[in-house]
Amino acid sequence: MGKWGVFARTAVERCRLLASYTEEPGRITRTYLSPPMKEVHAHIARWLTDAGCEVRIDAVGNLRATCRADPLVRGRPPGRPPRDHPEQMSLAMSGSGGTRADQRIRPGVRPTFVIGSHLDTVPNAGAFDGVLGVVLGVALLEDLAARALPYDLELIGFSEEEGVRYGVPFIGSRAVVGSLDADLVSRISPAIRDFGLDPALIPEAKLPGNVCGYLEFHIEQGPVLEHLGLPLGVVDCIAGQSRLMLHFEGKANHAGATPMALRHDALAGAAEWIGAVERIAREVPQLVATVGRVTVDPGAGNVIAGAAQATLDVRHISDEVRQRGVRSILEAAEAIAGRRGLGLRTELSLDQSAVAMDAELTARLWRANTAEGLPAHSMTSGAGHDAMIIAPHFPAAMLFMRSPGGISHHPDEAVNVEDVEAALACGSRFLADLERDYA
Ligand code: GLV
Ligand code: MN
Ligand code: MN
Repeated sequence: MGKWGVFARTAVERCRLLASYTEEPGRITRTYLSPPMKEVHAHIARWLTDAGCEVRIDAVGNLRATCRADPLVRGRPPGRPPRDHPEQMSLAMSGSGGTRADQRIRPGVRPTFVIGSHLDTVPNAGAFDGVLGVVLGVALLEDLAARALPYDLELIGFSEEEGVRYGVPFIGSRAVVGSLDADLVSRISPAIRDFGLDPALIPEAKLPGNVCGYLEFHIEQGPVLEHLGLPLGVVDCIAGQSRLMLHFEGKANHAGATPMALRHDALAGAAEWIGAVERIAREVPQLVATVGRVTVDPGAGNVIAGAAQATLDVRHISDEVRQRGVRSILEAAEAIAGRRGLGLRTELSLDQSAVAMDAELTARLWRANTAEGLPAHSMTSGAGHDAMIIAPHFPAAMLFMRSPGGISHHPDEAVNVEDVEAALACGSRFLADLERDYA
């Protein structure tokens, strides 16, 4: 097995290990700042400090590791292998050498290149969504540990991308670009304090202005690459998303004594609307709309539902088509609520535009793939990623790995070790290409 094959196998094993830290025994569930996140941080921090990186947890709970340009200021002696895989010793050593960093860095401000993805999960998740991107960043930093770099490398394990705990996604990446709003900060502050962090320090989580680029590795989470028989995808654009909460308000009453014609059943109204959501989305090419969670009050078998709350997630690569879809879906909710004598309230928690990846960095990814002889496919991402929050602020690029079975947000989520190996070879080549340009 070649060098990247060993790193790839370690990466997959590490994802499986991290998946064992969960809020729900028997299921992988790790929401924002939940207790198992501490253990995940501890493992990753150990791998990174062994690689000579400085590691900290910022005030929103992102794991931040910096690998300074000059290896002389790093803690790990050049060539020392990661603890978990002694086999990597000779491989890590083969990357040692190179000119001294101080001979290679341009005068002036040294740039920082960022690699990142997220560490939180959806409920009952798979082992690879987000985490794999962070673990691949760890592997690349381990490989680079012995080398003089003309730029600093920062690895970020974002604390929150899925939006499960507060119904608002991208808390981690929004903090690093300074776009968390005050209302959200006050909602999340108790959880931040419980995790042992200080919300007053959130402004310090912001990335400095010397960031020259961002790269995110991620599983595709869909069937396209598998269908094409390709290991890797280069992302050109990430679909925009709207997230809302709809509150249907009816009247709770006795299930036996209330005739059907005299009811104001909030759940029946929500159910009729969910059917309309599906119908509307099916009529518009590439529009996807999902109601993934409904809560009912009071939630008893013999009580007509007095209130029902439903989430709504709508996505499309065109912001105009997405927003038109949301309007049609809300009009349907109003019509249904009106006809059934229900109250209706809607709350918008996210209106995130579609985002293009940086053309220059994306071309570098292509060059890296070509140089490694790796076939890839240019594709849009239907799933949201931290890269879409970073991209308006810093040049961003994304590399997908094929998802076996096209499955994600499910315990059967998987990845092929060979595809991870290809992604690492491409990522390493990409960094070497950057290195030449900054040298
Ligand atoms: C993140 O996984 C999302 O696209 O919802
Ligand atoms: Mn996800
Ligand atoms: Mn993800």
